[in-house]
Amino acid sequence: MAVIPVELAGREYSVHVGYNLLDGAARLAADFIRKPQVCVVADERAYELHGRRLESALMEVGRDVAWYLVAPGEASKSWSSLAKLTEWLLEKEVERGDHVFAFGGGVVGDLTGFASAILKRGCGFVQLPTTLLAQVDSSVGGKTAINTKMGKNLVGAFHQPSLVLADLGTLATLPVRELRAGYAEVLKYGVLGDREFFDWLGDHSAEVLSLDHAPLEHAVAVSVAAKARIVAEDERETSGRRALLNLGHTFGHALEAETGFSDRLLHGEAVALGMVMAARYSARLGMIGNDDADAVERAVSLAGLPARIGELELACDGAKLVAHMRHDKKMDAGTLPFILLDGIGKAVVKRDVALDDVAAFLDEELQFA
Ligand code: GLY
Repeated sequence: MAVIPVELAGREYSVHVGYNLLDGAARLAADFIRKPQVCVVADERAYELHGRRLESALMEVGRDVAWYLVAPGEASKSWSSLAKLTEWLLEKEVERGDHVFAFGGGVVGDLTGFASAILKRGCGFVQLPTTLLAQVDSSVGGKTAINTKMGKNLVGAFHQPSLVLADLGTLATLPVRELRAGYAEVLKYGVLGDREFFDWLGDHSAEVLSLDHAPLEHAVAVSVAAKARIVAEDERETSGRRALLNLGHTFGHALEAETGFSDRLLHGEAVALGMVMAARYSARLGMIGNDDADAVERAVSLAGLPARIGELELACDGAKLVAHMRHDKKMDAGTLPFILLDGIGKAVVKRDVALDDVAAFLDEELQFA
C-alpha cells in the first residue's frame, strides 16, 4: 500500500492506495468515525458490488451504516439531488464534527463533497473512490460541484476530504471502457509533468489496464502523488499551477458539449482526445515537434482510447467547437487559457491563443479519421 500526503497550508490528509482497503476501512478511518452510525452516500452500482464489504468492516467495530443510494450518471449531480441529500443528512443529525463517507465514482464524490461543504457551513467527508478516474483525479484535491442547465460543475466549492481510501480491488468490476477512460487521466500526469512516467506508461499500459497489481498500484500512486504536489502548491487554482491539471480539458469540454455530455463520449475519452489536440496544436505553434505530438497520440491509441476527433464523425465545424469553449468556466475576461506543451512532461498555460486559429486547426483535424 502507498500512503500519499496532501500537504495544504496548516492541514494535511492522506490518500491510501492499495488492496483490501475497504475491509480495513474501520481501522484506517477510525479517527473520522465518532458515532455508532456512519452515513455512507453510495453509487447504486458500488453499493451492489462492494457495499457488503464496507458494511461488514464497519459492523466489526460496532458501527451501523445508514446508506443513501445515488443513481449512476451525471444527472445525479443536480440541484434536486443536492437538496434531497442535504435534507437526509440533516435528518440523520450529521454535525459539523462528523464525517460523511462518499462511496463510488466522481459523481458521488462531487455531490457528497459539495453537500458536506454546505451542511451546517461545512462538515467532514471521507472519499472511498471505486473508479480509476475518481481514484487518480476527482477524489483528491477538494473540487466539489454539481451541474446546472448552463453547464457542468458550475456550482460548487473547494472542500477537502479528510481521508481518501482508494481500494484498487474495486477496479476489477469496472467496465473496460470506464477503466480506459480513467487511464486517460493517468496518462495526463505523464504528459503534463513527468516524461519518465510517460515513458514508463508506454512500456506498462497493457499491464496497468489488465489490473496487474504492482504496475496498477504504481500508476495510481504516481498519479495521486503528482496531483497532491500540484494541489499543495495551488489549492484554489489561483497561481496557474493547478490549471495544468486541465490539460486536454478545454478541447475535451468542447467535444463533450458537442456530443451532449452523453455516453457517446465519456469524460476520460474526451480528455484523451483533448490531450492529443493540445499536443497537435502545440506542434502547430512550433512549441513541440510533430514527433512529440505523434508520441502523445500513440500513447492514447495504445490504451484503446479515441485519438482522432475525425473518428467521432461530428456534424460540426471548428467554429462550433470553439463556440462551446467560450462557455467553459475557465473563460476569463474574454480570453481562454489553454494548457499546451513545451515538451512531453512540460505543460504550460497559454493565455494569448487566437480562437479563430484554433477553429481553423479544428477544421483540419475534423477531416482526419
Ligand atoms: N480535475 C482537475 C483538478 O482537480 O484541478
